[in-house]
Amino acid sequence: MRFIVTPNGGLRRPMLLIAAMLAIAATGVAGAAGIPQIVHARQAHFKSLGRNLKALRDQIRQSHPNWGMAAADANRIERLAAALPTWFPAGSGKGHGVKTRARAAIWSNPRQFAQAARIFLNRAQNLTQAAGGRDRRALGLRARELGQACGSCHRRFRARRSWW
Ligand code: HEC
Repeated sequence: MRFIVTPNGGLRRPMLLIAAMLAIAATGVAGAAGIPQIVHARQAHFKSLGRNLKALRDQIRQSHPNWGMAAADANRIERLAAALPTWFPAGSGKGHGVKTRARAAIWSNPRQFAQAARIFLNRAQNLTQAAGGRDRRALGLRARELGQACGSCHRRFRARRSWW
């Protein structure tokens, strides 16, 4: 089927109803086709979390950390932590032809998952605060606590292996 597009980009009137119906039909399909993208984006976000935490740890190891960079890393981690719950829309688990380590428990125990995400965000906020305070020992402690929150969520909600 071809749409007739007028010079201003609009569809001609007789086609509008059909176009609207097609758009509704397409959203269902697009939703299913979108899951691999959601999973890939989620994994990219986690990689970014890992990179930022590593960069921050590298700063903490310096005798004279670059506090500007440490604060920027902590900020990025906090922003990612705040967004984390949105990376797991319902139906984005295994079974869509894309490898994922997200366990079904994320969606069957939503309260526990939300709690793990909240604890993580809380620790990320502590991290930002410590980076602002320019106290290397405090920042090291907060980074360790944050890392423990990563591990604790992974133990419960991340599978050891990828599943299709
Ligand atoms: C609230 C739960 C939760 C927290 C907190 C969490 N993760 Fe994860 N993480 C997951 C889940 C679930 C997956 C699997 C995602 C998938 O494969 O779809 C994952 C996957 C990953 C991956 C693999 C990404 C890939 O390429 O497949 C890395 C790396 C990672 N997390 C690092 C971290 C780091 C570092 C932290 C802490 C700074 C962290 N995560 C905090 C739940 C969490």
